Amino acid sequence: MATQRRMTVPRFVAAKGSGQKLSMVTAYDYSWAQILDEAGVDSILVGDSLGMVVQGKASTVPVTLDEIIYHGEMVARAVTQALVIVDLPFMTYQVSPQQALESAGRIIKETGAQAVKLEGGEKQAATIRAIAEADIPVMAHVGMQPQSISKLGGHGRIQRDIDRILADAKAAEAAGAFALCIELVPRQIAAEVTAAVSIPTIGIGAGPDCDGQVLVTHDLLGISPPSFAPKFLKRYADLRCIATEAVRTYAEEVRTGQFPDAEHSHE
Ligand code: KIV
Repeated sequence: MATQRRMTVPRFVAAKGSGQKLSMVTAYDYSWAQILDEAGVDSILVGDSLGMVVQGKASTVPVTLDEIIYHGEMVARAVTQALVIVDLPFMTYQVSPQQALESAGRIIKETGAQAVKLEGGEKQAATIRAIAEADIPVMAHVGMQPQSISKLGGHGRIQRDIDRILADAKAAEAAGAFALCIELVPRQIAAEVTAAVSIPTIGIGAGPDCDGQVLVTHDLLGISPPSFAPKFLKRYADLRCIATEAVRTYAEEVRTGQFPDAEHSHE
């Protein structure tokens, strides 16, 4: 078996020029991070989507810095190959560049992750610069920004303001972001942004012309409820069904006395 080289920020950035597409998924705990890393993804994001898919909340807004650090540490400890990026939660960086630097510093020191991600471009330029100048690699998230849910009025709104998205992307790049996440924009806009910046673009609901793709693992593996079905989502498995069926069978075998049988009992 070929030995993989660990994904680093410079290798991630260099992938753009080489035409190699980058794959990214989310993880929130040790076991899943190990599985995803073994599957060979280029990057693992400890997303603040944990507020929704792990904590069962209505948005990412309530996630705290301590919570993301708790999950980030478990993920980073499991991963040996992929680049680990951790989200800066809502209101842990918007107050000032100083606050952002302290939050990003805690994430890097306490989790062992290699990079952080924040939402915004032009408005967050000074903050991106402060984090990057402290040698903490920072990814910016443009297009639909889930932490702005109250302003947007919902999560599913496709962002079509090309001038805004391009300005955010270019401002983030100029401020020192090493990569961009582009969420929920028409594919033509994502293609234009990808051509306009020299850093890799990682799309979610942004079409095939980005330099890479990210999906929430619970969505791509079919753990999320089937009612969550945005057009951009491709489910690669139906783990919700498989898990429900397995646990139903176990419960039934316990009730009927089929489990444990002789094979699963100590003499
Ligand atoms: O929090 C998250 O999981 C994210 C991805 C959807 C990109 O930001």
